[in-house]
Amino acid sequence: MPAIANPRLLILHPRLNLYLKPSFATMLFRSHHNFSLFPFNHSRKLAIPKPQLFSVNPRNLSSSQLAAEAHSNSRDNGGGGRSGALSPPAIVEAIQKIDVNPPKGTRDFPPEEMRLRNWLFSNFKEVSQLFGFEEIDFPVLESEALYIRKAGEEIRDQLYCFEDRGNRRVALRPELTPSLARLVIQKGKSVSLPLKWFAVGQCWRYERMTRGRRREHYQWNMDIIGVPEVTAEAELISSIVTFFKRIGLTASDVGFKVSSRKVLQEVLRCYSIPENLFGKVCIIIDKMEKIPMDETRKELKSAGISEEAIEELLQVLSIKSLTKLEEILGPTGQAVSDLKQLFSLAERFGYSEWIQFDASVVRGLAYYTGIVFEGFDREGKLRAICGGGRYDQLLSTFGGDDIPACGFGFGDAVIVELLKEKGLLPELNLQVENIVCALDHDLQGAAAAVATILREKGQSVDLVLENKPLKWVFKRAARVNAQRLILVGNSEWQKGMVSVKILSSGEQYEITLDELE
Ligand code: HAM
Repeated sequence: MPAIANPRLLILHPRLNLYLKPSFATMLFRSHHNFSLFPFNHSRKLAIPKPQLFSVNPRNLSSSQLAAEAHSNSRDNGGGGRSGALSPPAIVEAIQKIDVNPPKGTRDFPPEEMRLRNWLFSNFKEVSQLFGFEEIDFPVLESEALYIRKAGEEIRDQLYCFEDRGNRRVALRPELTPSLARLVIQKGKSVSLPLKWFAVGQCWRYERMTRGRRREHYQWNMDIIGVPEVTAEAELISSIVTFFKRIGLTASDVGFKVSSRKVLQEVLRCYSIPENLFGKVCIIIDKMEKIPMDETRKELKSAGISEEAIEELLQVLSIKSLTKLEEILGPTGQAVSDLKQLFSLAERFGYSEWIQFDASVVRGLAYYTGIVFEGFDREGKLRAICGGGRYDQLLSTFGGDDIPACGFGFGDAVIVELLKEKGLLPELNLQVENIVCALDHDLQGAAAAVATILREKGQSVDLVLENKPLKWVFKRAARVNAQRLILVGNSEWQKGMVSVKILSSGEQYEITLDELE
């Protein structure tokens, strides 16, 4: 892709151009269409008593009043960028019964789900650190322009995008890679290459919901910036293998399908198909498994690929052995040589049995340029567990200088489904070391002092905050999996002591506060 000095020139979204120069007519149209009387979801469950009291709010005004208001706002602030700013939600004085479910495709994380998420994320983080990667993060809200790409990717149609109160087109990030590219360009020469960075962050895609695919998911990413060698891809796959092993998966449960986009490039080059069609062809091929073959042929044809080239492409894509690929493409091309190097490195890293060549893997994002890979479950029940590859030209599409780069994204949803399937989900219970209870209301302060002593010594304490019968306290101790029950009773406290009960053995004794640890 040619280097483009001004990334703004890349904005292809027709609506986006309108938003960049908001006109009065645009504002009027949007005001009319976007503003609703009630800010909340009106399910049948919503019983709104009548009459209702609304404070005066633009949402309650007619479209002509709105237009007048927008016009006066634009005069008030000198016609600057905030003229069409959205107004806050309407104030509803009546009591509203809300829908207690989170928006479709999103999740709440009550404690048991949060324990699982923390367990997963700490494995992501520990593996990244084992490989010497540094953690980074970006905002969940990014400029929409970051995700507007040419090749008709699915991810663009799934974008959660909107206009903020300052008339800027923004989007909830659907992936982390464009933000990473933005940060690398921003850092410029102030960072020394290679960069080995990882992130775990929430991503948003308006997806059709299937098992393991949600509208909101977390992605673990590891990326290496500044290494043109296949050693980088080999290192990244090694880190995912390490992660799989840590959580109890083996090479007979999961594997990696590996190919290179250069395979397709070499076939297209043989048929003198222009380079600029490459991204588009990759996107069509990526969807191949989900649609009838004739449909793929039709799409390739309308992209400008000749029938002869299509047949050759489809034949090459069915190859599952590197030796066969070498026979067809010859031994000297970059695709074959990169793949051979990767397989040879896999042997040295010790994960050969985890990877296999599969020419049909191209991945669905337009920016990949070389090796691509995806993690899959060998029973074939789930969608890709993770995916990644080399993207040596992404930076120049944002106006930066190209730097070789590769990385992967690993979602939090499919892996949990797989662990459930295999019975490998860890049992993660709440674990508090001590439960401390005052036996008398007057001793609440004494119990608090005991809790403080223990916490200062690094012991976790669930302090019983009200006067409760002992039966309740024992039940609570079992629920929080406490190891010790510490009772603060009057007679012991007079002697500067407390009673300790070891809950696993039933052993019971009294100790002084100094002896508590
Ligand atoms: P991706 O293949 O679009 O790549 O997504 C990577 C992984 O994120 C998928 O394999 C899956 O585990 C997870 N994922 C994606 N969409 C969803 C969803 N709707 N629900 C649940 N999980 C999902 C990328 O995003 C690239 N940016 C990865 C990358 C990083 N390439 C280089 N560096």
